[in-house]
Amino acid sequence: MHGALEDITKTVGNTPIVRLNKVTKDLPPGIEIYVKCEYLNPGGSHKDRLAWNLLRRAEEAGLQPGGTIVEATSGNTGASLALLATIRGYKCVFVMPDKMSQEKVTNLRAFGAKVVMCPTAVDADDPRSYYKVSRRIADETPNSFYANQYHNPANPEAHYLWTGPEIWKQTKGDFDAFVAGLGTGGTVSGTGKYLKEKKPEIQIVGVDPVGSLYYDFVKTGRITKPFSYKVEGIGEDFFPTTMNLKILDDIVRVDDKECFLMTRAMTREEGLFVGGSGGAAVAGAIKWAKTVGPRLLAAKKGQGSLKILVFLCDGGQKYVSKIFNDDWMRENGFLDDEPGIGTVADILHLRSKRKIVTTTSSAKVKDVIATLKQLGISQLPVVDKGKLKGIISEVDLLRHMVSGPKTASSSIAALLESDYATVTPDTKIELLQGVLADARAAIVTEGDAVVGIVTKIDLIDYLAKKSAEVPVVKPKASKKRPVKKANGARERRA
Ligand SMILES: Cc1ncc(COP(=O)(O)O)c(C=O)c1O
Repeated sequence: MHGALEDITKTVGNTPIVRLNKVTKDLPPGIEIYVKCEYLNPGGSHKDRLAWNLLRRAEEAGLQPGGTIVEATSGNTGASLALLATIRGYKCVFVMPDKMSQEKVTNLRAFGAKVVMCPTAVDADDPRSYYKVSRRIADETPNSFYANQYHNPANPEAHYLWTGPEIWKQTKGDFDAFVAGLGTGGTVSGTGKYLKEKKPEIQIVGVDPVGSLYYDFVKTGRITKPFSYKVEGIGEDFFPTTMNLKILDDIVRVDDKECFLMTRAMTREEGLFVGGSGGAAVAGAIKWAKTVGPRLLAAKKGQGSLKILVFLCDGGQKYVSKIFNDDWMRENGFLDDEPGIGTVADILHLRSKRKIVTTTSSAKVKDVIATLKQLGISQLPVVDKGKLKGIISEVDLLRHMVSGPKTASSSIAALLESDYATVTPDTKIELLQGVLADARAAIVTEGDAVVGIVTKIDLIDYLAKKSAEVPVVKPKASKKRPVKKANGARERRA
């Protein structure tokens, strides 16, 4: 038929770029944010481009139709591979972590794919992890192809060959920054490489959720303790080889609540029905624009506005039972009317008189021992020129004095450790228990600044004080009538 395409896969790409008009209202004048709507791809995300390139490369290497595609996927790569497999005649087996939304699982099964679920809360090296299980299934299935999006160079290549050139063609290079969430790194590494080749001054900015490894590694070079978070598709607890962190000019981090509130705002205010990582990317871009934007705008010396292009990966339909469900949002403390047991800021507030004490990597062992002793604390964040470098604790000093060089006047530079997690003042206290189970301490940062440190005893102290706040009141005989609350619950006036 005239005007018809050969099959649905021909609709992948050429996704529109749209200006944001409302969620950006607090930005300084002259800064504009645009979004690339990858969620409008037929498979529902940018992974349609990846699936095309993975299969193209596999077929070049000898894969024949009729074979089985196996992949560890949080859903989107699976959806894209499943769509392509349908058209091209392959079977699919997908292995997913169990935190993923039911919609994503159902979506894959709708295409006839087999889905295997694995526990989320295990290390990537654990034989039960979805990375390991998918590898084993691929090894055991004859005539199979392990798509391996975390380590397959065809992943960033898809974005280098396709996404980057497409954006360049659409915009004619008329923008200053490209912002994308960081998952496998395929998007940012491939698109970023192409854009940098065309216009080296384009800023490539990654957005990482609190709990993921990337942010701390880019900022400090340290592999800190990852912990779990709810936003899907971005952040990692290991380093995929498809990620080229060197391509980044900057990285910002966002927490679940700001991701989800922005996701909702994008839908309600901009008409863009995006998933959580889209909200994350826009929230991150706005944060970045507020801090770095004015300086970059000034550097343009009146030559037009500062234009930021944000990559929106998938759509909101897959998250209707979570981000777009008030009960789920409230249960998880993401709505303001349900504050939960508080945030890290509340713990810091409780000890507001105690100023954060830090040291520097050039400090002497004996001086740090004296500080720890004097303050009765066990560890100190190490900060050089305002940037976090690591943590030093009594265990490290003990090791140095017992089995190491035993020199009290040497510097602590070689003794710094990474077994802490970083959180923000907005991190929910519910998360801290998991964080501190595995890490010595949670260092609280705001941008680059270290604003606090929280240890197990601080958490216990806070929770104990909090529970003491709820007095056991003996009911008194009162003539006053109970007041009816709007939700129907009855409450007594004090
Ligand atoms: C919803 C969503 N957003 C963002 C990403 C990150 O993209 P990339 O893997 O190219 O870094 C993914 C990847 O899984 C995703 O599924």
